[in-house]
Amino acid sequence: MTSCKPPKAAHNEPGAHDVHSYGNPDRARVKHIGLDLEVIFDQRTVKGTAVLTIDQFALPAKQAKREIVLDTRALQIDKTEVSPDGLKYTEGRFDMGKSDPILGAPLHIDLAPDTKFVRVSYSTSPSAAAALQWLAPEQTAGKEHAFLYTQGEAILTRSWIPLQDSPAVRVTWDAHVKTAPGLKAVMSAPNCLDANDCHFVMDHPVPSYLIALAVGDLQFQATGPRTGVWAEPSVLAGAAAEFSDTEKMVEAAEKLYGPYRWGRYDLLVLPPSFPFGGMENPCLTFATPTVIAGDKSLVSLVAHELAHSWSGNLVTNATWSDFWLNEGYTVYFERRILEQIYGKKRTDMEAVLGYQDLQDELKSQPAKDQILNVNLDGRDPDDGMTDIPYEKGALFLLEIEQKFGRAKLDLYLKDYFDRFAFRSITTKESLEYMRQHLFAQDPDAALKIPVNAWVYQPGLPATAPKPESEAFQAVDTAIAAWMKGQTIDTAQWSTQEWMHFLRGLPEHLDAAHMKKLDAKFHLTASKNNEILAQWLLMAVRNRYAAANARLDGFLTTVGRRKYVKPLYAAMLTDATGAKHAVAIYARARPLYHPITQTSIDALLASRAEAK
Ligand code: BES
Ligand code: ZN
Repeated sequence: MTSCKPPKAAHNEPGAHDVHSYGNPDRARVKHIGLDLEVIFDQRTVKGTAVLTIDQFALPAKQAKREIVLDTRALQIDKTEVSPDGLKYTEGRFDMGKSDPILGAPLHIDLAPDTKFVRVSYSTSPSAAAALQWLAPEQTAGKEHAFLYTQGEAILTRSWIPLQDSPAVRVTWDAHVKTAPGLKAVMSAPNCLDANDCHFVMDHPVPSYLIALAVGDLQFQATGPRTGVWAEPSVLAGAAAEFSDTEKMVEAAEKLYGPYRWGRYDLLVLPPSFPFGGMENPCLTFATPTVIAGDKSLVSLVAHELAHSWSGNLVTNATWSDFWLNEGYTVYFERRILEQIYGKKRTDMEAVLGYQDLQDELKSQPAKDQILNVNLDGRDPDDGMTDIPYEKGALFLLEIEQKFGRAKLDLYLKDYFDRFAFRSITTKESLEYMRQHLFAQDPDAALKIPVNAWVYQPGLPATAPKPESEAFQAVDTAIAAWMKGQTIDTAQWSTQEWMHFLRGLPEHLDAAHMKKLDAKFHLTASKNNEILAQWLLMAVRNRYAAANARLDGFLTTVGRRKYVKPLYAAMLTDATGAKHAVAIYARARPLYHPITQTSIDALLASRAEAK
């Protein structure tokens, strides 16, 4: 059997320290967090207390200091108190360490031997809270009310809650959130329908990056008995129609890998500046409105975030080097859900588009970052967020499916989610379990899978599956015909077929060709954001000025990083484009979430350096 052992001692072994947290959970570990917070829009701050329930572990005899260490980033700490019983508190000493641009600063709090509770009084920075985006009314759909939301993954929760911000430290939590009258707060927990004073309780232990909050003019519409949509009133009906298959998706997922354990599954539709497609916050996935296309053609995003309710939220990557355990398993699972609901044709097309993304990523990433169990020591975990953990991770499971058969893999995965439910595990632990519980059952099949190459080596192993789509073969024929100047029949094409068509055209097209494409297919006017972003990229690359107004409008409303980053990058390839990029960004930057700002700042800076 192929060995699952890493070639040499890997970083971030089980029990090893999470290099992205200052926390000391081996000495004193947070078990529960009680939040009492006020969201103050006119000061752009979240202010209040966090009561941490902690376990202390035996100290080595000579250890001088009895303390708990928390992560913080740009937090103002006003006071820390300790208590043996959660009733009587005494103010204690704390010390804030030096701040690192990626990790923030450790907060050391002295403990007494009998301390069970630590209360921290704090407020978030109005300008430097990296998890928070404060939106002015003009940036919302309704244009009347302010909006706030958080994005915790990977290591940003520490910018709004002082805690041990490692995915290996799981906590239960509850929260009281006060906000302005007329606004509604929702969280990554069961949500109540009442307008104002909500108390939230998450009684399953979750990693810190899954604690999330949003406040705005939000209303709810059900899409099924345990599914529904939260959104601003003007987008609610459209969102509920787009996501009306969500209940079916939950049923399909349960049929595959066991019960949905989080009670409700709702979606929150955010304003278009949301930096991601979706974020799998428990009970309440946060989603970009850019997937509301009117024809459900982009709802694989829902299948993806829902799948995280098993891969990611139940069984969590212990460190950010194990991120592929979250995302690779989820992409595989997402496509299994899609196949059940939308069939094989659609799923095959999505798998091929994913494979194309992976091939592009493999061309642009250095060898060391093509490894699933990637080394992120000294780096921002965000650097590991490429298509590699997603698509290479999913292909690894697809190869296992092909060699062992679906039935065996499905039984194995169901058992895996059960066995590690509400736990955080490393790559090594997951492979050890796979070796014992799947590979041992069929050693001949196991021999065919180069696990070591998949997980610890760059590129793809020679045995890697290559997804194929029959529908795309027809599109390839259409591309060839179009290039010969023939007319093509696109009337029945789905979004995925359009994507394959646009990607399959030559990278360099002259002005007349761009104009002809636009005249024939109305691409600049496309209301499908996936198609539009692809077309705008072609427009930038080919300096097609007729799309400039649309490009400007897109970049100054949409903050989804997957779309905006390639557009700025393409503009930066020559001096005229760079000027254009700088001019648009000057207006757009204040409208983006800090995550997108950081990425585009870095892009512009690296270009300036290159000069
Ligand atoms: N968990 C991720 C988003 C994420 C990853 C946020 C790393 C911060 C750090 C989420 O599940 C995701 O993968 N979203 C994708 C959409 C999906 C359909 C591939 C996205 O936002 O593009
Ligand atoms: Zn994901």
